[in-house]
Amino acid sequence: MSIELKKQVIDILKILQEKDIEIEASKLADELNVDYIVLMSAINDLIDNNLGGFREEEMYQVSLSQEGLTYLEKGLPERQILQILLKNEIKEINLDDLRAEAKLDENLFYVGISNLKKNKWVTQSKATGENKIFLIAEEFPETQLEKFLKKFESNEIVDYSILSKEELMQFDVLNKRKLMNKVRKTQRIIYLTKKGKSIPISEIQELKQVSKITSEMLSSGTWKKYNLKPFDVTKPGPLLKAGKIHPLVNLINEIREIFLSMGFIEIRGPIIESAFYNFDALFQPQDHPARELQDTFYLNNPKVAKLPEKDRVLAVKKTHENGGDSGSIGWGYEWDENIAKKTVLRPHTTATTMRRLAQFYRNNEKVPVKVFCVDRVFRNEKLDKSHLAEFTQVEGIVIDDNVTLCDLIGLLSEFYRKMGFKKIVTRPGFFPYTEPSMEVSVYYDKLDEWLEMGGSGIFRPEVTYPWGIKEPTRVLAWGQGLERIAMLYYDRTDIRDFYINPIKWLREQSYLK
Ligand code: PHE
Repeated sequence: MSIELKKQVIDILKILQEKDIEIEASKLADELNVDYIVLMSAINDLIDNNLGGFREEEMYQVSLSQEGLTYLEKGLPERQILQILLKNEIKEINLDDLRAEAKLDENLFYVGISNLKKNKWVTQSKATGENKIFLIAEEFPETQLEKFLKKFESNEIVDYSILSKEELMQFDVLNKRKLMNKVRKTQRIIYLTKKGKSIPISEIQELKQVSKITSEMLSSGTWKKYNLKPFDVTKPGPLLKAGKIHPLVNLINEIREIFLSMGFIEIRGPIIESAFYNFDALFQPQDHPARELQDTFYLNNPKVAKLPEKDRVLAVKKTHENGGDSGSIGWGYEWDENIAKKTVLRPHTTATTMRRLAQFYRNNEKVPVKVFCVDRVFRNEKLDKSHLAEFTQVEGIVIDDNVTLCDLIGLLSEFYRKMGFKKIVTRPGFFPYTEPSMEVSVYYDKLDEWLEMGGSGIFRPEVTYPWGIKEPTRVLAWGQGLERIAMLYYDRTDIRDFYINPIKWLREQSYLK
């Protein structure tokens, strides 16, 4: 019957035939540049065909210990001490002075001195009344010990059994000085049988490689004979196209957690909003440019919004006309209820914040109140790489007594720190409803840049008084767009991607946050 072997096994057999010697398995694996396990499985195939085998042998390996390695670099202590004498051209020196000079550990120093004496390079005498070391030799050739040490350069591991008699003596000296390691290992020696040595390679047939094992191969046992195509476990498996949470929603949830961890409660409000909560309650005059069609989407259906209780509407009207009881002189024009009744697609979440102030008034609530809103807003913007007409705002407010700009900056720092930005700066800004107002920028280390994040401030009395929020109670507020941050988080250069949803990119996103 002809012999069938895998290609790899035939190659190994060929090499063993050519070498015609027994060889240690890991050495052979190195030579063939194959994994040890692959080699041993090939040897098993040789064994199955009675062509070869292996024998186990115990052996010792020796190498330098950690201390030994440092001497390889710096020289043995005796060489180090000698170096000091030679460098400073010292012929005689007080033992203690030499020790101070050598800066060696006490034990090592005496080991060094004793070896210097053994080498007959120095002598020690107390004849002068002092304990002195005298340099007596002229030449200081490399010692046998040093030569032996060099054998282990580049962290060599040496087979103990190949050490010469002379070398064994050096080994014992170094081993006693704890400079060597000696470990027992089991080696596998690979050999060929008589049949293996003599069989002509041409008589052996090569087994074909298969990538799949069939049930027939399994039941008949022939699978063992086939050369299986290697399976690469580092290659990714097939892509699973399952539904997952959208990256933007993941980020929103992260922001929710940040606010919740800071003791804030989430609020939400209608997307279809009245101009009243959106502009009038925020003390934006009715002819303010931000109200205009080019910025805000007005609705035809529904065309008219319900306004809150009459007296609150009146309070807002008064602040616009003459400041009401807020201490302001107002805008000095006649406020028109019909303009306030117009309906808009909410252009900022501050409208929702205003509804929360109204609720605070109605329920006669106690401070502090800490709420946030992460929600969709709409603006009449031309779409491009960095502008959307429909996006998300993140907004937080604190209603409390005697809170100041310092508290606001503290909150902002904490909020942005939790978002992953370690440094923030604030600059004076302007919003019709806050005084003072601040622009907030954060430091983005990945780009080494300061990025503008959004606005913040303390609501003006004109905004808070109609809802009964009066000194010393104040409202701290801040808000920003979300998608700009999302672009940084997800490394997108086009803001529209979050709504156009490039499927390839979404598929690359992880399932979990
Ligand atoms: N509403 C502002 C905007 O849309 C942000 C802001 C919120 C500013 C709260 C100050 C206070 O940009």
